[in-house]
Amino acid sequence: MISMANKRTGLLAFAAVLATCAATTGHAQAPKVFTIKANEIKAEVAPTMWGLFFEDINQGADGGLYAELVKNRSFEFDVAGMGWKEIKNKDTDGSALYQNRGNANPANRRYVQLKSASGRYGLANEGFKGMGIKQGMQYDFSVLARQHEGSSGSLLVELVDEKGTVIGSTSVKPGSTDWVKYNASFVANATVPKASLNVVLTGKSGMDLDMISLFPKDTWKGRKGGLRADMVQLLADMKPGFFRFPGGCIVEGRTLDERFQWKKTIGNPEDRELIINRWNVEFKHRLSPDYFQSFGLGFFEYFQLCEDIGASPLPILNAGMACQFNTAEVVPLDELQPYIQDALDLVEFANGPATSPWGKKRAEMGHPEPFHMTMIGVGNENWGPQYIERLKVFTKAINDKYPEIKIVNSSGTDPSGDRFDYLDKELRAMNVDIIDEHYYRAPQWFLENAGRYDNYDRKGPKVFAGEYAAQSVRIASPDNKNNWHCAMSEAAFMTGLERNADVVVMASYAPLFAHAEGWQWTPDLIWVDNLRSYGTANYQVQKLFSLNKGTHVIPVLLDNKAVTGQDGYYASATIDRKTNELILKVVNSTGKRQSGAFVIDGAKKVQAKGSLTVISSTNLEAVNSFEAPDTISPKVSSISIKNKRINLDLNPYSVNMVKVKI
Ligand code: AHR
Repeated sequence: MISMANKRTGLLAFAAVLATCAATTGHAQAPKVFTIKANEIKAEVAPTMWGLFFEDINQGADGGLYAELVKNRSFEFDVAGMGWKEIKNKDTDGSALYQNRGNANPANRRYVQLKSASGRYGLANEGFKGMGIKQGMQYDFSVLARQHEGSSGSLLVELVDEKGTVIGSTSVKPGSTDWVKYNASFVANATVPKASLNVVLTGKSGMDLDMISLFPKDTWKGRKGGLRADMVQLLADMKPGFFRFPGGCIVEGRTLDERFQWKKTIGNPEDRELIINRWNVEFKHRLSPDYFQSFGLGFFEYFQLCEDIGASPLPILNAGMACQFNTAEVVPLDELQPYIQDALDLVEFANGPATSPWGKKRAEMGHPEPFHMTMIGVGNENWGPQYIERLKVFTKAINDKYPEIKIVNSSGTDPSGDRFDYLDKELRAMNVDIIDEHYYRAPQWFLENAGRYDNYDRKGPKVFAGEYAAQSVRIASPDNKNNWHCAMSEAAFMTGLERNADVVVMASYAPLFAHAEGWQWTPDLIWVDNLRSYGTANYQVQKLFSLNKGTHVIPVLLDNKAVTGQDGYYASATIDRKTNELILKVVNSTGKRQSGAFVIDGAKKVQAKGSLTVISSTNLEAVNSFEAPDTISPKVSSISIKNKRINLDLNPYSVNMVKVKI
């Protein structure tokens, strides 16, 4: 597959050279003439169109979106001391012992017992690939602690840089031999990408510690224990139609015991039972044995995030099946009830009155108003008759109790092949609400499939393009890049999604986030490190479509046919009834400059000036980066329109959008 992909890239590059030669030797071609039928409404664009797929992969949640800086804050990782190391000098006499409360607190069994007889003794936490610390920023430390009988020591708290220089400190003095939460804040005096946190006993003392936590003050909306503001901002900037969570394969788990259970992710963070992250050792090339899910970012926070960014929440629940690439465990049909109950209770948690049992829990967490959930997914990438059998039971139960909730159903891992064909047929026979299709394919696949939905059944289930991303090498190869070739091919394909708005009601690129040092899967939409974040070329394409989706689809035709790659052109058009604009998107997927005349038919008046937004690069390998985040980014200019005709001179390898009042 690698060699095939390379071959394709090579051919494209060769074609580009030929095309450039033609252009520079003056063999300019006559512009193609396209027709836009401004008064032929084909479909309404669903408000959910162009959304986000979130999964805790690539350090997406812990060490990413969830702004906690301390790794293994509750000592619940498989190895209790993972992420921590002793601090002592030659005169120190101290010890750290990990203790287990057993069933006294099953969700958070372990804590550390620190004792110091002399010298400086304590523990240092390495953070998630270090801690990104900003000069002048306030940091909020908290700990659950109890003083040992007869001890009255203080706990010194220090942030240190890579060389061990203290860049901020505070202290807390537990005043009780019972567990109490203590808080202390301090300001850092330096910006450091990889700091660590020391908690140190000074002098003779002893205390037990748990939930050792450090958050920056500048979280999203300033919420205590909240999310990284720069990362949420990138999402908010896209104005997403929906937000799918918590995954992805993480929903399924490697085993059923390790599946995602939403009820264990709400309430006090210290009572949320941590589990392993199934991506920790999934790929031998990117082992991450210290990857766990603390669930500090849990279902309440997901719903709250959706509300913040104006996205419709789409939770996906386990269908009673563990990942079929791993153990493929299935729950017997007569034991499926708890799984179904989880789905029903989730609807109540999201939408029920504050007086209902699960609505009350939401209210207690600070949100008495409902979250207005309208959709729920049953199963992620599940397939085969075992899925269909379980899905039918879920569907009946959800439809009976909550007929207003739309159900999102899996069509498996691939957009074609036996698994897909079987599921597609079964799901259509069930007349399900929405089918979730996934495509991780070569850029060429995206270019060749822009017409995929043109012949789908208009009266059947709606489609959710739930996970897609062009893979520059092969699926999940560590060498995949978020390059312009991939992003441009996705844009070409997306004109097909837009054109088929009566069938395709949601679409999301996947995965969403990746940490530069903590990733397992590439490509990804947004890359972050401990202090920085940027949107990839693919992000720019997603954002362009999302911010300019319009309200109704109208035809744009070449020789009376949809524009799905003829001579490398792809196009779609919408109008926006809220702003009275026509929005035309055109992709030139060739390496040569091409022109096109887009004649607007059926509009009484077209304004003489519009705007033209272009994302392009002659280098298909070009990528954005931390250092140059805008290498691939939209350039906006104005464009004149005469006689209802938009004349476009399209850059090689370009995504173009014209907006004009009509
Ligand atoms: O997006 C990464 C993974 O790809 C998802 O977890 C899974 O659904 C798909 O196979």
